[in-house]
Amino acid sequence: VTVGTALANGTQRLRAVSRSPRIDAVRLLEVVLGHDVAWLFAHGEAQLEPRDSACFEELLERRAVGEPLAYIAGSVGFYGREFAVSPAVLVPRPESEHLVALALEGWRSARTSEPIRICDVGTGSGNLAVTLALELPHSRVVAIDVSPGALAVAAHNAKALGAMSRIRFVLGDMFASLAPDERFDCIVANLPYVATGDLAPAPDPTAFEPRLALDGGGDGLEPYQRLLAQAPDRLTEAGRLFMEAGPDTAQALAGLAQAAFGAVASVMVVADYAARERVVRVCRRR
Ligand SMILES: C[S@@+](CC[C@H](N)C(=O)[O-])C[C@H]1O[C@@H](n2cnc3c(N)ncnc32)[C@H](O)[C@@H]1O
Repeated sequence: VTVGTALANGTQRLRAVSRSPRIDAVRLLEVVLGHDVAWLFAHGEAQLEPRDSACFEELLERRAVGEPLAYIAGSVGFYGREFAVSPAVLVPRPESEHLVALALEGWRSARTSEPIRICDVGTGSGNLAVTLALELPHSRVVAIDVSPGALAVAAHNAKALGAMSRIRFVLGDMFASLAPDERFDCIVANLPYVATGDLAPAPDPTAFEPRLALDGGGDGLEPYQRLLAQAPDRLTEAGRLFMEAGPDTAQALAGLAQAAFGAVASVMVVADYAARERVVRVCRRR
């Protein structure tokens, strides 16, 4: 078969499972052939070797039963960089780039000789921790996860992307493994926030992701409730906390945050570019 025919057949195969079957087929063929999309489109008449054809079939089959494209390809783009992923971590979502953009606001122009102390709770692949460390060269980042497998992926990404020297990786439940007096200027968290009853079965791609990264308990807010019980003691005087939530739970999360911080903080739900409420921002006042 030719490249063009393989792409057309692959797109057809993935129609039932993917909202972007053509893009998925292209990405899988890129992985098989080691050529980028521009090459594929310029060589539609090129013949596939039988072993490449068989390999493409195998990857299509994995995708056809719902496995996320990023697991099959082994990596995914986030905030302009490529992050390795494995089934030990949640696949970084484009929505989380908005949380990064909000967390960066203000700090980029901050003229301080002191390093900005950042904590990423539930770091997963390390996409938030590594991006913030690289975008804010003046930062020191602590990246926490309760999953050793996730921390290994995050450390791999930090090393590959040149951020290892400014990130400390900590295995632990929320802040439990830190010294009692360690505080941060900025805390980011994308903790599990899917209500247990809403966890979707295969072929939904989330069925392949770690339950520990998705399951937010009965109302989807249990991990955040636990975080908020501790966060006020972990934030510096003018510190900020950014939490990613589901569009259905952001307002409830904002209510919990306001209750946890009281009058010393302003809490705001920030909508993303698609006008969905995804991030809760807590700014502590001096
Ligand atoms: C939704 S994933 C987010 C991953 C990554 N930060 C991102 O934005 O794509 C949530 C992560 O929180 C971790 N996690 C769950 N419960 C935790 C806890 N009690 N303490 C620390 N990390 C936890 C999971 O292992 C998972 O890696």
